[in-house]
Amino acid sequence: MNIRELLTQKAQSAMTAVGIPEGVNPNVAPAKKAGFGDYQINGAMAAAKQMKTNPRALAEQIVGALALDDIAEKLEVAGPGFINIHLKPEWLAAQVDAVLKDARLALAPVTKPDTVVVDYSSPNLAKEMHVGHIRSTIIGDALARLLEFQGHTVLRQNHVGDWGTQFGMLIAELEEQLATQDSAGFALKDLEQFYQQAKKHFDDDEAFAHKARDYVVKLQGGDAHILGLWEKFKDISLQHGEDNYRTLNVTLNRSHVMGESSYNDDLPVLVKDLLARGIAVEDQGAVVAFLDEMKDKEGNPSVVIIQKQGGGYLYATTDLAAMRYRVNHLGANRIMYFIDARQSLHMQQVFTLSRKAGYVSDQVSLEHHAFGTMMGTDGKPFKTRSGGTVKLAELLDEAIERATAVVSEKNPELSQAEAKEIGRKVGIGAVKYSDLSKTRTNDYIFNWDAMLAFEGNTGPYLQYAYTRIQSIFRKAGELPADAPIVLAADQEKALALRLLQFGEALNQVAAEALPHVLCTYLYELASQFMSFYEACPILKDGIDAPMRASRLQLSQTTARTLAQGLELLGIEVSDKM
Ligand code: ARG
Repeated sequence: MNIRELLTQKAQSAMTAVGIPEGVNPNVAPAKKAGFGDYQINGAMAAAKQMKTNPRALAEQIVGALALDDIAEKLEVAGPGFINIHLKPEWLAAQVDAVLKDARLALAPVTKPDTVVVDYSSPNLAKEMHVGHIRSTIIGDALARLLEFQGHTVLRQNHVGDWGTQFGMLIAELEEQLATQDSAGFALKDLEQFYQQAKKHFDDDEAFAHKARDYVVKLQGGDAHILGLWEKFKDISLQHGEDNYRTLNVTLNRSHVMGESSYNDDLPVLVKDLLARGIAVEDQGAVVAFLDEMKDKEGNPSVVIIQKQGGGYLYATTDLAAMRYRVNHLGANRIMYFIDARQSLHMQQVFTLSRKAGYVSDQVSLEHHAFGTMMGTDGKPFKTRSGGTVKLAELLDEAIERATAVVSEKNPELSQAEAKEIGRKVGIGAVKYSDLSKTRTNDYIFNWDAMLAFEGNTGPYLQYAYTRIQSIFRKAGELPADAPIVLAADQEKALALRLLQFGEALNQVAAEALPHVLCTYLYELASQFMSFYEACPILKDGIDAPMRASRLQLSQTTARTLAQGLELLGIEVSDKM
């Protein structure tokens, strides 16, 4: 159910009926203020301007032509030509009933599914995942889940950095450590430490550095022994990543890994093709593209190096190859990149080049969904106390530990195992929600106390709202019966209306890749529920059975919507907390 879409169709027909030309947007939106109805049609003003007629009179005409008898109880023209729609409580009640009875909350899958590539997480495998990867991983996963729920075909692509000169050094180090240790898993137990050791070795020991460089050449040349070590390294590094994904409740697995190295064979082919098409030129031994489409202030074209003098390829080259693969092989018509804002220029260059070379048609949407940096409470990029990068795994452990302490304190009766399981959901949920609920494009301040609070727009608050409804059912000793839903009180109607706007929130997130819109929706829904519960008691004496059944069903619909919304954000709920 999508009220906005339904009203848009109705408004469109009415506007056509009164002679408004095609293409004027009816501009239907939820009412901004109480007292102005539930929805508004705001298109009459623009239409009147175009037709050079009086907007109020035109709005009156539209009202006369609107076929909303079953849906609305009152239509009124306000101000310069706004049309306020007051929806019928009985109609809203019937819609909520349909939501409650449907496993998908009456949200039908889209009729024209997109094939969407979602490029996210994509860490470099040379090092352990750190907080710099958290935003891409969390935000990208929420979008992947949401688009999938809507019925789109979602292809997750984990474009991991598994190629480049550092791998020579890492493989040489691994080989040496394997000579004294029994397993690669042991040597690479702490990837970060391993990297530091290799780096130090490389800087201090000329012979080792020489070997490392030689291994880069051998790796590129396909030497079996070196490739074997590289595979081993990759496998263990990916395993570290997957452990983080599991802890984070992120849907990525091995099948989504399509690392930079996957495109190696295509790189020479790509360069040749770009040269043949005249998109790139040879310039002092390198292959370069000059993009007049992206001139700087002085009018100089943006320069993209496709192949270096010595023949080496670059980050952009691989991304171009990945682009062709995604369009031609995966059949994507929408490609979404969840990458740090600092890579905006890179993405813009790749997009421009891909279009210019004809690799991506206008039918395919290319989107870089950038985000800001994660900051500490001191307003500086988030670091350990000693100034190092914070490992993701350690951050998540801390989140679970802190949440478990909060949960145990609130519920001393919980067993240790229960508290830990709830703490896991709350801690991870808090970390994810605090990221998802902020406007993606801003830098974001990581603050333990704020994210773990049970009040305000936080993960724990929403999880707790869900849990509270479950406890109402436990106290009621019954699940809602299938009885008529009646929206008598204002709070009941307001809650019903909010419940029916879930699909609108999802559409907006899907279109703009802004998960905070869903967070805001869920937060408002939870708050609306609290006002409803206060004004419309369920368990008190004197509430007759039909009213109790109606209110229990509203509660049940709220709980299911909260759980579904949180699930799309990758956040788990719990019956107790
Ligand atoms: N590995 C890169 C990094 O850590 C991110 C890759 C993002 N995806 C892409 N197609 N470029 O910065």
